[in-house]
Amino acid sequence: MTETFSIGSAATARGKFITFEGGEGVGKSTQIAHLSRRLDEAGVTHRVTREPGGTPFAEEARKILLDPIITPKTSFAQAMLFYAARSDHLDQLIRPELSRGHWVVCDRFADSTRAYQGAAGGVQWEVLDTFDALVIGATMPDLTILLDLDPKVGLARANERRAASSPGAFLRADTFEGRQLEFHQRLRDGFLEGARVHPHRVLVFDAFQNEIALAEQIWSQVALRFNLTK
Ligand code: TYD
Repeated sequence: MTETFSIGSAATARGKFITFEGGEGVGKSTQIAHLSRRLDEAGVTHRVTREPGGTPFAEEARKILLDPIITPKTSFAQAMLFYAARSDHLDQLIRPELSRGHWVVCDRFADSTRAYQGAAGGVQWEVLDTFDALVIGATMPDLTILLDLDPKVGLARANERRAASSPGAFLRADTFEGRQLEFHQRLRDGFLEGARVHPHRVLVFDAFQNEIALAEQIWSQVALRFNLTK
């Protein structure tokens, strides 16, 4: 069902909400940049954002969450902070943009909490269902692009990226990158479980393939889903 918002006599169709998900080093940023370029070419006004982040409060929460020394010690406490940041992001950026008819493309969203704090961190699915109902409500993504990759490959890519961004210097892994491989395997299973439960919303793509081929696959699914001219 398409939500509409009336401003005077004009009704603006709600924009589409697309999220990108996946473990470490799967190439989300690169693929988001490709999709954003294709949306520009198709004349779709959109905003690219990220989680945790997107508002001043959520960016501060990001610094806390990603710092392995000061992040909350339990996955449950982390989940509450991710949801506080998400609530602010939804209120200040995502919902206002969607109601203007603009699209929003977000790097990570609720499926990340399910995978990281839920499947890998042990927070019960039902607790996260409650957070979703209270915080997200009807603003679930219209489409989620899950980039699936063997965590051994993803972690190696994330390490290369860290080394390249700060050559010669020691740059420590953030809170989640630094975990054991087994954590990342549970993470991958968690993402795939979410896709199994929500097959219409979540599309799974093989992130091991060539970057351009993957970008084409993603674009053709987005164009098909939302009737855009390719
Ligand atoms: P980021 O540097 O954006 O990681 P990536 O480049 O892999 O997307 O850091 C975000 C980190 O936060 C990432 O490790 C996943 C984690 N995260 C959670 O644990 N729960 C969440 O709900 C979200 C949104 C992110």
